[in-house]
Amino acid sequence: MSTNIVWHEQALTKHDQRTGNKHHSAVFWLTGLSGSGKSTVANAAAKKLHELGANTYVLDGDNIRHGLNKDLGFSESDRKENIRRIGEVAKLFVDSGQIVFTAFISPFQEDRKAVRQLLEADEFVEVFVSCPLNECEARDPKGLYQKARSGQIPEFTGISSPYEAPDAPELVLETSRYSVDECADQLIEFMKKKSWI
Ligand code: PPS
Repeated sequence: MSTNIVWHEQALTKHDQRTGNKHHSAVFWLTGLSGSGKSTVANAAAKKLHELGANTYVLDGDNIRHGLNKDLGFSESDRKENIRRIGEVAKLFVDSGQIVFTAFISPFQEDRKAVRQLLEADEFVEVFVSCPLNECEARDPKGLYQKARSGQIPEFTGISSPYEAPDAPELVLETSRYSVDECADQLIEFMKKKSWI
């Protein structure tokens, strides 16, 4: 960390922001294999919440890698840095009073745990977007599994790079059993049960 920097408190706290928004703010950290449905479910839930008047934002792996994280690849250390930066960004969104959905493979337990520790207990919800590898591979929406199998993409998650499933996620969405709409509803139901919205 640099020296001679001093933390400056904001005039509006996250509690002020939440009061203004009339809902809680938290990160729904969606983790799962490529093609498991993270972005699709996150966007469907964000749309439903928007219709309910909530403020949401989706942070998506492919998109963030076009800008903020365009200097990072898929080595273990780059993936770690990817998740570290997103964790910090997600925290800012929580401070701004929004409901954040993150859609990153985030394959390593340790990196997800580090993000959890950045936030308060009721601000981080680990969501395992569960879908068997063979189903993700059959979907192959971007043709990446085919490229990975033929050796054109090195270090591809599930094929030549590991994925560590969560041990105790707050929520599991089984996208091979339930529709996108049903999975989005399961997220919203979780928030309602906690009286967050
Ligand atoms: S990570 O592991 O969390 O840092 O990855 P993430 O930032 O979510 O980026 C995953 C998307 O990048 C594409 N892609 C790859 N994924 C996995 N392994 C390799 N080697 C790779 N190369 C490119 C792919 O489109 C992922 O998007 P999703 O939405 O998960 O399919």
